Amino acid sequence: MSNDTLTITDNRTGKQYEIPIKDETIKAIDLRQIRVKPDDFGIMTYDPAFTNTASCKSRITFIDGDKGILRYRGYPIDQLAEKSTYLETAYLILHGELPTTDQLKDWTWNVTHHTFIHESIKKFIDGFHHDAHPMGMLIGTVGALSTFYPDAKDIFNAESRRKQVYRLIAKVATIAAFAYRHRMGLPYVYPDNELSFAGNFLNMMFKKTELKYQPSPILEKALEVLFILHADHEQNCSTNAMRSIGSSQVDPYSALAGAAAALYGPLHGGANEAVLKMLNQIKSVDRVPEYIKRVKDGDFRLMGFGHRVYKNYDPRATIIKQTAYEVFEVTGKDELLDVALELERIALSDDYFISRKLYPNVDFYSGIIYKAMDFPVEMFPVLFAIPRTAGWIAQWEEMLLDEDQKIARPRQIYLGSDVRDYVPMVKRT
Ligand code: CMC
Repeated sequence: MSNDTLTITDNRTGKQYEIPIKDETIKAIDLRQIRVKPDDFGIMTYDPAFTNTASCKSRITFIDGDKGILRYRGYPIDQLAEKSTYLETAYLILHGELPTTDQLKDWTWNVTHHTFIHESIKKFIDGFHHDAHPMGMLIGTVGALSTFYPDAKDIFNAESRRKQVYRLIAKVATIAAFAYRHRMGLPYVYPDNELSFAGNFLNMMFKKTELKYQPSPILEKALEVLFILHADHEQNCSTNAMRSIGSSQVDPYSALAGAAAALYGPLHGGANEAVLKMLNQIKSVDRVPEYIKRVKDGDFRLMGFGHRVYKNYDPRATIIKQTAYEVFEVTGKDELLDVALELERIALSDDYFISRKLYPNVDFYSGIIYKAMDFPVEMFPVLFAIPRTAGWIAQWEEMLLDEDQKIARPRQIYLGSDVRDYVPMVKRT
């Protein structure tokens, strides 16, 4: 008998089954042979929220949540944050290798030359209410892009996919900035091809009357770092949505609108917005213990703390904390930083948080940096979505080319009524 197997005894029948183990995993479908009667459906696994189910094989991002490790294509996140740029990292995530000088030049040129959006998309954004949430505008507008690029339906054509990749990486930033300007009642600022990806984004957000916008190099670098840290995170809620929607073979704009919608929720990419609201609510260091007590009493969760995968300090949070101090050199220290530091100090020494392995996650400090950089709180999830676009499309493409994949279709355990006859209205009680 091979050692790489799992022997299961079905105590209902006394029968034994030998299930192969590969990559420390068994195939759920191998359990279907376990049945009492030949016409039984067979054993399924029950795993709401996929806490112990691998939905795919992937070569993109590696996380060891117990050790606090995050790597894109094998490269440690701290090395990328220190040495790379967002566009280079996006190339790495999408192509599997760091680009050569020529490849990076070509990639940068192509992304940069797809940053403009069709004037009708601008009009589409104009149609949103004056106080529409920018994340809602982003989700709607990215979905609308599919109507502008019907060629995107040709998903099994590599050349077509390449074009949608350029468009998506580039245009998401433009749409995000336009959504902000619309909300503020400010004129749209067109992309500046001479600036870096992050520099141009700051230009489209904040340019006023100056002829040429010059981003602060420190803020530009900080934004690059934040974009790198958010570029991918393997099978999280929104990536799972991207893969699941994409598995129906819909175009990538429609799938990405769905992924962005999943990101919007406060337990995912909306958490940075929720963290800032929480810090504003606490307001001062002396009120932290009272707040922690209410969290422990179960009144609410400490936003920016805890993670499904990380049971150790989120490595992204460590880098963001360092970046925060660099940003404050330019912007001045935000008064909420002291509240955040005290919250972290108390939480990390309290048994409630220690026993549940609840550590600060990526969203705990990112909001404070964004606030210091003058981004309104509603833009925070949008700032997450811009770089995550790279991860979403890489995961989408990997799914499309994976021969193991089919349309996503989980099973259920039906616990509802057995068959019964329709009851006419007059007989219903
Ligand atoms: N504050 C207080 N208690 C918490 C928190 C928190 N932030 N997170 C988890 N717990 C407790 C939870 O009540 C439970 O306690 P008990 O065992 O007594 O019932 C235990 O810890 C396990 O929690 P869980 O809900 O089973 O854990 P999960 O893996 O399903 O949830 C999470 C992960 C991120 C949704 C959760 O930690 C949370 O809601 N955090 C706050 C929201 C947040 O910061 N989200 C951003 C995640 S990082 C960015 C991203 O990738 O999206």
